[in-house]
Amino acid sequence: MVLGRSTLEGETVRPDHLMAAIRHGVLNGGKRFRPFLVLESARLFGVVQQSALPAAAALECVHCYSLIHDDLPAMDDDDVRRGLPTVHKAFDEATAILAGDALLTFAFDLLSDPGCGLGAEIRVRLISRLARAAGFGGMAGGQALDLAAAETRPDELGVVTLQAMKTGALIRFACEAGAIMADAPAADLNRMRSFGETIGVAFQLADDLLDVTQTAAAMGKATGKDADAGKATLVGLKGEAWARDELARLVAKAETLLEPYGEAGHILRDAARFVAWRQS
Ligand code: IPE
Ligand code: IPE
Ligand code: MG
Ligand code: MG
Ligand code: MG
Repeated sequence: MVLGRSTLEGETVRPDHLMAAIRHGVLNGGKRFRPFLVLESARLFGVVQQSALPAAAALECVHCYSLIHDDLPAMDDDDVRRGLPTVHKAFDEATAILAGDALLTFAFDLLSDPGCGLGAEIRVRLISRLARAAGFGGMAGGQALDLAAAETRPDELGVVTLQAMKTGALIRFACEAGAIMADAPAADLNRMRSFGETIGVAFQLADDLLDVTQTAAAMGKATGKDADAGKATLVGLKGEAWARDELARLVAKAETLLEPYGEAGHILRDAARFVAWRQS
């Protein structure tokens, strides 16, 4: 659905190599965890899947763009992603930059499309929240803090803040999206935001733990690089045992936040456990 749409209005040429790079960066596997969260948070609030799909796809486009740029030589300089050559390796750096740019804007094209059946006000709220989550106060800002961390050496609070931005912000959006689509009361919106923040922090903590404990083959990307690159991680600051305890605490907090939804929340409860205890 995402890349299969007919020509856009006003479009004359769609460069083949750019489209191929975009497909490589999006249709290359991945857990699809963020779109899964969008669909499940929508289901929790009774939103039909058809209406939630554009937001789910849009978020995965933003995530894939963030990975394409994260892997560039100027950032983490990685050669393998999802078990395949990174986009700049399979194509070239300029094409990888443009593929990321195009995916970011395509996300907002998808979100603004009235075809999903959501009202204009709801779509604008989704656009606004995703823009905030991806921008200088969210993912991009967190990536800037992450790159500076080898110099700035942030303390525990600093690391939690940068991780909440670089990784947590998109995951928080995924979890609040369903409540926004359903125009749910503020209490639900805030609860789903807190749930997203909690599993967002857990997601990056688990990623940092897997960087230390897992093989590159299992992860489909290089491991053992964070310490060498001077990355600020909580595993580096506080150790693996602390990280496992902290993951257990975060899962328990996430489960508590879902209690008001009873049995309807069981898939998101499982998702919180998956975040913490996944092996790839
Ligand atoms: C990797 O995200 C980047 C981080 C925020 C840690 P994922 O672990 O969700 O990567 P994919 O989408 O499954 O490849
Ligand atoms: C990246 O964090 C978070 C993004 C916003 C892309 P990492 O640099 O740790 O992600 P991986 O380990 O390369 O997937
Ligand atoms: Mg990085
Ligand atoms: Mg990286
Ligand atoms: Mg990592």
